[in-house]
Amino acid sequence: VTEFHLMGFVGLGDLQIPLFCLFLVFYLVTMGGNILIILLVATDPHLHTPMYFFLANLSCLETCYSSNILPVMLVNLFYGGRRTISVTGCIMEHYFFGLLAASECFLLVAMSYDRYVAICKPLQYTMLMNNRVSFQVIAGSWIHSLFVMSIVLYLMCQLKFCGPSEINHFFCELNPILKLACSDTQLIELVTILLSVLCILFPFFLTLASYIVIISTIMRMSSVSGRKKAFSTCSSHLLVVSIFYGPMIIVYVLPKTDGLQEIHKFLSLFYTILTPLFNPLIYSLRNREVKAALRKAVAKLYLFL
Ligand SMILES: *[C@@H]1O[C@H](CO)[C@@H](O)[C@H](O)[C@H]1NC(C)=O
Repeated sequence: VTEFHLMGFVGLGDLQIPLFCLFLVFYLVTMGGNILIILLVATDPHLHTPMYFFLANLSCLETCYSSNILPVMLVNLFYGGRRTISVTGCIMEHYFFGLLAASECFLLVAMSYDRYVAICKPLQYTMLMNNRVSFQVIAGSWIHSLFVMSIVLYLMCQLKFCGPSEINHFFCELNPILKLACSDTQLIELVTILLSVLCILFPFFLTLASYIVIISTIMRMSSVSGRKKAFSTCSSHLLVVSIFYGPMIIVYVLPKTDGLQEIHKFLSLFYTILTPLFNPLIYSLRNREVKAALRKAVAKLYLFL
């Protein structure tokens, strides 16, 4: 076998075209929102602080992440699984997906730590978190995920495929690919579980711990309005973080029993499509300074026109 068929949602029949339109809208909104944030942070000097650098880097990551998954998925929805993807192409799609997802996990940890320092240790903020530190953290997260995913890529390239070529998924996800392999997959399964614990579970607990400390600090604040604002920010971040990590932990870390495939396919919609869509809305566009920057940019554009 040298080519795979991505079956996507073929069981859905008539729903293919409405789903195509829905996901097309999701893709356009994701790209628009994330590119807007990158442009705002790049052009507004008020936003040149670690927090906004993290947000812009997250948006940059999300645009790549969506562009890796959604166009392939849209083509497949349109042609109803009759289109093929080469085995190499599929392994590369999974490689980029893993690379970007692992970087995102570390970036989310960095962002929660940044908020932890800002809220719980405001006096040490400039010492603990400055542009140099944020650059190092971002570079570190990329190097780390490159290293981890090279191991997975190496193991995936050793796999042989001789059986059916239908992947029961809308993108080249690991488990459905492993199901089709006719060589031994025990090693790669073991390695991916270990790496998932390292790259998903561990960052998840760190992020959760930061937000728990932040929320307990906020509860002790004396000003009611400050408490409300900080609480609403943190709870929305926590929501996005759980939408991203929760399904990923179920799919990658928990034991894989047969019969869960359809549920896994549904759950992976959360971390492949919904997170990149909601991240810019929740992290940035609800933020007062980003809104001000947006208003200024729109006013400038108006004058220019
Ligand atoms: C990502 O972060 C680095 C370092 O903090 C920053 O210099 C860069 O501009 C950021 N990238 C984007 C796209 O904003």
